[in-house]
Amino acid sequence: MQQVNLGMIGGGTVGSGVFHAWQQNGDLMAARLGVQLAFRKIAVKAFDEPRPYPIPRHLMTTAWQEVVNDPQIQVLIELVGGTGIAKTMVLAALAQGKTVVTANKALLSAHGPELFAAAAKSGANLYYEASVCGGIPIIKALREGFVANRFAAIYGIVNGTCNYILTRMKLEGADFADVLTDAQKLGYAETPPDLDIDGHDAQHKIGILASLAHGFWVDHHKIHTEGIRDVSKIDMLFAQQLGYTIKLLGIVKPAEGRGAQGDGKLPAGVQVSVYPTLIPNAHVLASVNGVFNACFVRGDVVGDTLFYGRGAGKDATASAVLSDVADAALDLKGGGKVRVAPFVAHARSGRVVSLDEITSRYYVRLSVVDRPGVLAKISAIFAAAKIGISSVIQPEGHQGESVPLILMLHAAPNAAMRKALARIAKLPVIKGRPIMFRVENLD
Ligand code: HSE
Repeated sequence: MQQVNLGMIGGGTVGSGVFHAWQQNGDLMAARLGVQLAFRKIAVKAFDEPRPYPIPRHLMTTAWQEVVNDPQIQVLIELVGGTGIAKTMVLAALAQGKTVVTANKALLSAHGPELFAAAAKSGANLYYEASVCGGIPIIKALREGFVANRFAAIYGIVNGTCNYILTRMKLEGADFADVLTDAQKLGYAETPPDLDIDGHDAQHKIGILASLAHGFWVDHHKIHTEGIRDVSKIDMLFAQQLGYTIKLLGIVKPAEGRGAQGDGKLPAGVQVSVYPTLIPNAHVLASVNGVFNACFVRGDVVGDTLFYGRGAGKDATASAVLSDVADAALDLKGGGKVRVAPFVAHARSGRVVSLDEITSRYYVRLSVVDRPGVLAKISAIFAAAKIGISSVIQPEGHQGESVPLILMLHAAPNAAMRKALARIAKLPVIKGRPIMFRVENLD
């Protein structure tokens, strides 16, 4: 049987997980692929660094160049992370015509076009299934399973840490800060937790999905991103009362205009954003709890589909890495690339629209002085901005200087909403910063 030689950089939690999964199911993979996969060398930080699964000493080296420059190694697995040395390693391997498999979303987000150009130049492939949603095969689904579709919408719960925190806030009525501390103790959230809870990790992932779906590389700086720090248990409660659940949602959908109405054209502009979103309790995404991830994909041919699974962890990530290794091995077996390329820029013009251009529905929570005429002042500002109010809640029995006032608003452009809220925030009867989340009905 033909053999494909693998090299890996990274022998910690994920790297040893990949090695372990290969030890467990490598024979099964060989039977399925008709190709034997063989690990030749693994670069590690230190021979005795902590790792959940052992790696044989004779396979390890502490010099990554020994892996990248080994002429016998055909496929390089990069699990270093970050955008520094990882980029050097990946470019060095691609320049030698080696296929690269990476789990590095930050690297792809920052340097995607350069890396894919380098791969194209040397006729190599760059695979990245593990970079988005861990074990969920969403990259392969978008690239191959849905090759006959234009994408009317992708909604993703793509950050397990945020989903864990929001789930506990919803189910237990817990405070954000308390759950975050717990999540850090349990190892779900990093210290500091900013990359996750400020939405950057989700931004990188949703940018990769948007690029693949719409055929132009999305600059992640253009992705409007809000994290979950502003979500409080009181918002969870009111959202529930109104029939909604709050999720950190990555959203990719054609903006208004060409392509947005399923008219068979490529969209001129695409919304790509990450923000806490009220979604209907009855929607299946509202039941995605804990550290789980899910992607809801709407294709113009296939209709609605849902992908669910673990978005992180050594075993889920190993599953995704080895699926890329399998594709790379089949490419080599077939004597060339026999599948849809990992990334194809097919949109002649494509742009991420600014949030101001997008129309949304809104949930707003204000702290107001409880006195006659307050609601009239607020509704006058919304009326002047042509923003309609669909419902209002002011709970009875609140004590103290201010009371919460919750408004659900009809669809309006984000630019109009931003200006109206800025005016409302300046009213003397408003105490504290207005809280606003967008609402998606997902229909
Ligand atoms: N920190 C990420 C999450 C996992 O919480 O989903 C790695 O992408």
